[in-house]
Amino acid sequence: MTDLKRTLGEAAAAAFAELGVPEHLGRVTPSDRPDLADFQSNGAMAGAKLAGKPPREIAQGVVERLASNPALQSVEIAGLGFINMRVSGQALSQRANDIAADPRRGASEVEASRRVIVDYAGPNVAKPMHVGHLRASIIGEAVKRIYRFRGDVVLGDAHFGDWGFQMGLLIVASMDEFPFIRALMERLVSAPGGFSEADSQRVLDELPNHITLADLDRMYPQAAAKAKTDPDYRDRARRATAELQGGRFGYRLLWRHFVNVSRVALEREFHALGIDFDLWKGESDADPLIAGMVAELADKGLLVEDQGARVVHVAKPGETKKKKLDDGSVVVVPSPDPLLVVSSEGSAMYGTTDLATILDRRRSFDPALILYCVDQRQSEHFEQVFRAAYLAGYAEPGGLEHIGFGTMNGPDGKPFKTREGGVLKLHDLIEMVRDKARSRLEEVQAAGFGEQLSPEEFEDTAMKVAVAALKFADLSNYRGTSYIFDLDRFSSFEGKTGPYVLYQAVRCKSVLRKAAAENVHPSRVTVKEPAERDLVLLLDAFDTAVTEAYDKKAPNFIAEHVFKLAQAYSKFYAACPILTAEDDAVRGSRLRLVAATLGQLELALDLLGIETPDRM
Ligand code: ARG
Repeated sequence: MTDLKRTLGEAAAAAFAELGVPEHLGRVTPSDRPDLADFQSNGAMAGAKLAGKPPREIAQGVVERLASNPALQSVEIAGLGFINMRVSGQALSQRANDIAADPRRGASEVEASRRVIVDYAGPNVAKPMHVGHLRASIIGEAVKRIYRFRGDVVLGDAHFGDWGFQMGLLIVASMDEFPFIRALMERLVSAPGGFSEADSQRVLDELPNHITLADLDRMYPQAAAKAKTDPDYRDRARRATAELQGGRFGYRLLWRHFVNVSRVALEREFHALGIDFDLWKGESDADPLIAGMVAELADKGLLVEDQGARVVHVAKPGETKKKKLDDGSVVVVPSPDPLLVVSSEGSAMYGTTDLATILDRRRSFDPALILYCVDQRQSEHFEQVFRAAYLAGYAEPGGLEHIGFGTMNGPDGKPFKTREGGVLKLHDLIEMVRDKARSRLEEVQAAGFGEQLSPEEFEDTAMKVAVAALKFADLSNYRGTSYIFDLDRFSSFEGKTGPYVLYQAVRCKSVLRKAAAENVHPSRVTVKEPAERDLVLLLDAFDTAVTEAYDKKAPNFIAEHVFKLAQAYSKFYAACPILTAEDDAVRGSRLRLVAATLGQLELALDLLGIETPDRM
């Protein structure tokens, strides 16, 4: 199924080729003067230069060749040699009927499917999520869905942060707070003889009665703060981290418990946001590969001693940056920094687990591409890891890509914090947005626009409106740009918002319900009215939006499309009576347009991870 842009582009390319002009110049784009044309081709100017002829002469040749094309109602030259095309009603009608019948709603698939891993969200055990994690989750989920929809074989992996220093902090904090944990840890340095799997399980079953999620939430920030001011405490936590990674039996048990508790809570919250992972692997899953990897890096001569630690140098000769030292002096150092593989305590670092995870993924899935959907502020980290992986031969050049993004900021322009100045808890954010959605829905109902909802349906709809508000606000910006969290604006039913587009989709649903009740059925689309034309032209543009979102790993192209489509529907709804149209054929045609619009809106919203309620 080809969109009009491509159909016309191919016709124009053939005409250019006949005139002896390179056919890629025949590229057709949506017109930037919709009042004059639907599509335009600007190739005559460049073509004329190559052919040594006046642009209007080339354009004239193209126009003559396109004049009889049944997809076109008119084709004209404008200005210096722009070619303006107006699509015929017949071609638009045909396209609308095709889209209505197509489960993919007019979107194409990739030519060759690849295996892709999307590494996103990246929550950590016990550490509260910050806005970076929220954006990583929202954007990553959309990128995963878009890749899958285009036909790749995609796995989304949460890459749970379960192996770093925070684990050592939690171990030390719980030993200090709970004497029985300390006693247990001292007893279970290594697996004692006679201590069976069942005994371990008994300990794991018992621990939730003592250390709960609330304890972790409380202990981690305290311990992290203490480690900043108390070097002894920090050293103990570092040693505990190294011992955990070294396999100290009791620590591993306790760690398992921390991981379980955090994961259950996180999964529930992600799920509420419509974010679900295929794999919930942790940094720790790479652990068994680390020793072998370190040995191999050393064999390859890539591992270098550096003040007791071991690193891989990744900067090429001449790649440098200026660095300010503690004493204020400035030195020139290689850039990016070397990748720290083994710390001086012998611990695996963030980069170590990322590198080993690449190996793990290669063995288990052999992806052609891994996309890391992570805060832009980690770009140097990924540059280091990717370069090390390429040097070590763990991935094909270009097979690793950092999908970075800006921050969601507070009114002060700095990364969003809670009113108390703390990091954001996902749970609290969801509650806040949901409260807002409830009051917005109540406003709509009070104004008499809403439908009658049962209390359960009201709650379900409020949650969907909340998710749409949050995700659409995020995804309608190009991911690289930062934006300000403005709940009032995000949750409004007017403007470029999630609730606005949901509202248009819900209007489609209500028309279709009413039609079914009145026994009116959709039938062949015949496009006549300007508002119908505009709506179909937008339906036609879906493929371009999806392809651009895919190529640029940028869901905002789809969000933009959704918004324009919702607007076009709203205009169509106002200009073209549907169920009250006089003529049966017109009623059926418009009804099918409504169904096609709804189908595409819901599909596109689903690619953004947004669900549409039935009524509101
Ligand atoms: N857990 C990390 C953090 O909180 C993010 C993980 C991103 N993914 C990765 N493969 N490093 O910063």
